[in-house]
Amino acid sequence: MRYKKNNEVKTIFNKISYSYDFLNSLLSLGFHKYWKKELVDLLKPIDGENWADLCCGTGDLSFLIFKKVRPNGSVTGIDSAKEILNIAMERSKLIGNKFICWEMKDILEIDENSKNYDGICMSYGLRNLVNVEDGLKKVFNLLNDRGRAGFLDFNHSKINSLADLFQKIYLRFVVVPISKIFKLSKEYSYIEKSIKNFPEGSKLMIIAKGVGFKKVEYRTIFFNQMGILILEK
Ligand SMILES: C[S@@+](CC[C@H](N)C(=O)[O-])C[C@H]1O[C@@H](n2cnc3c(N)ncnc32)[C@H](O)[C@@H]1O
Repeated sequence: MRYKKNNEVKTIFNKISYSYDFLNSLLSLGFHKYWKKELVDLLKPIDGENWADLCCGTGDLSFLIFKKVRPNGSVTGIDSAKEILNIAMERSKLIGNKFICWEMKDILEIDENSKNYDGICMSYGLRNLVNVEDGLKKVFNLLNDRGRAGFLDFNHSKINSLADLFQKIYLRFVVVPISKIFKLSKEYSYIEKSIKNFPEGSKLMIIAKGVGFKKVEYRTIFFNQMGILILEK
């Protein structure tokens, strides 16, 4: 089951990799960049810290974090899909950034003994993992004793709330038809299903506390469409 979902997700992201950045900007009207900046502002990475961007995709968060932790810190972007990670590497080359490390790996398989991060960030990744609790446990174990982590993703709002209705209309009548033009409607239809299976913010906080995080905060942004989870050890 775990293997099946992992492979399904990897296939999706390898397939959509070349249209990913363009469609992200088009479908969010560019707002995803502001949401990512908001996450980074909340996490406050500073010079000298070592960070990981898990499920990094084409590396948006890695580049933002890098600006904050340089010149003495480090950033590692990790993703399991080869094609999308290649785009992150190409972006790095294009701007002459040799300092961000890129690793192709399933985040649930990262060796916990070899890492000790000051901070971990993840955008639109947690929802795609086979098991959210295992993902948060992994993040907990990869952080040092005073580490912090932040997650940006779609907010799973209360069923039949205005936010829920808006999200469904937007996904069904904007996202899927537009992605159809790029022959990716099957892949983008997956978003609604994944949000349905993703815990609501209050549940995410309970899971994070259970995993061991002492400070746990969840806030919604953009009319409850997106959620940011901030965790500290
Ligand atoms: C929606 S994209 C988000 C990419 C990027 N963080 C962003 O916000 O633009 C989700 C990413 O998570 C990656 N991913 C999903 N499950 C993963 C796993 N178990 N281990 C590593 N990467 C994973 C996918 O390959 C994909 O690149």
